[in-house]
Amino acid sequence: MELQITDVAFGGKGVARANGKAVFVPYVIDGETVSAGVTRERQKFLEAELESIVTASPHRVEPRCPYFGRCGGCVYQHIDYEHQLALKWRQVKETLRRIGGLKELPMRPFIPSPVEYEYRNRITVHVRDGVIGFFWRESNKLLDIERCPIALNEVNRQLAELRASRPHDGHYTLRASGGPRVFTQANDGVSAALLDLVDRLLSSATGTLIDAYCGAGLFSKRLRGRFGKVIGIDWDPHAIAVARKDANGNEQYIAADIEAELGVQLSSIARSSPEEKRAVIVDPPATGLSKTIVESLTKHQPAQLIYVSCNPGTLARDLATLKTSFRVDSITPLDMFPQTAEIECVAHLIMRKVRDGE
Ligand SMILES: C[S@@+](CC[C@H](N)C(=O)[O-])C[C@H]1O[C@@H](n2cnc3c(N)ncnc32)[C@H](O)[C@@H]1O
Repeated sequence: MELQITDVAFGGKGVARANGKAVFVPYVIDGETVSAGVTRERQKFLEAELESIVTASPHRVEPRCPYFGRCGGCVYQHIDYEHQLALKWRQVKETLRRIGGLKELPMRPFIPSPVEYEYRNRITVHVRDGVIGFFWRESNKLLDIERCPIALNEVNRQLAELRASRPHDGHYTLRASGGPRVFTQANDGVSAALLDLVDRLLSSATGTLIDAYCGAGLFSKRLRGRFGKVIGIDWDPHAIAVARKDANGNEQYIAADIEAELGVQLSSIARSSPEEKRAVIVDPPATGLSKTIVESLTKHQPAQLIYVSCNPGTLARDLATLKTSFRVDSITPLDMFPQTAEIECVAHLIMRKVRDGE
């Protein structure tokens, strides 16, 4: 069937309408007319595969990777970078409006990646029966990959070495730097911009900072000079050991589950120094915050809350509850993963009931 693509949804699929239903088609661009074949009919929508482009978008570009279209990693290599950002910006806004019920959205411009390819400082490849690579899209079959153009050259050099070593079946994380095997942000340029942003957003904050999901202390290390005390919490003992290595006297790192520890720390500060200002950074995995953590934040109400999110859907879900206690001051999307569907966002929340002097 011939389809008019009106939008590109979060995840990367183009959206059209046919027979009163939404149709989702990968590798198309809003504004294009395409010919597509239906592959699956669901109750509320259809899924289709692109057959040919009838009218191409001016934003269409040549993908750089020979595996694009088969590999499950990238979805936007056929779209120029500026338009990728425009689409992702709209996707964040729409997700926060639809799931988070946030109407007056203080959306800031996208912080782009300084480089569009060759940015990943680590990749995880899978090995099975001599095939070394990534999963095919929407499949658990492995696609043999010789080189990944979104990874740094050093990572690709390691991939070549791994391939030459005839590795056993399993998963292998290849890193550009020989640093510790703990969580680190995957795009160095955007990680630096993320730090600058969080630093700027918290420029008026003082007192105690709780860095929840701190990993090796990315945010704590940058902000420790400005707070009387910094408490980092992460359940990965290796990351906590790295964070403790060069800790100053005002830094404390706790290896624990945030679920239990965040409430304990917040109520202990409230009990021992009720006038102490508190700021909290949360940087959870894609699943977002649990109900217990949202309740803890709502109950103890730090003066400022920074929510670093790698999933606009769970961010929207959590903001739907947090917005009763906090005003959403700004939402800034960052492009940590150009060419892919992933979107990083920083939400800055300010306690509604501002106490005297705060
Ligand atoms: C997205 S990473 C952020 C790390 C750090 N903020 C950074 O930017 O390098 C998420 C971190 O949360 C930790 N984590 C996930 N769930 C947790 C939980 N329930 N309790 C404590 N830590 C958790 C992981 O070990 C990981 O270090």
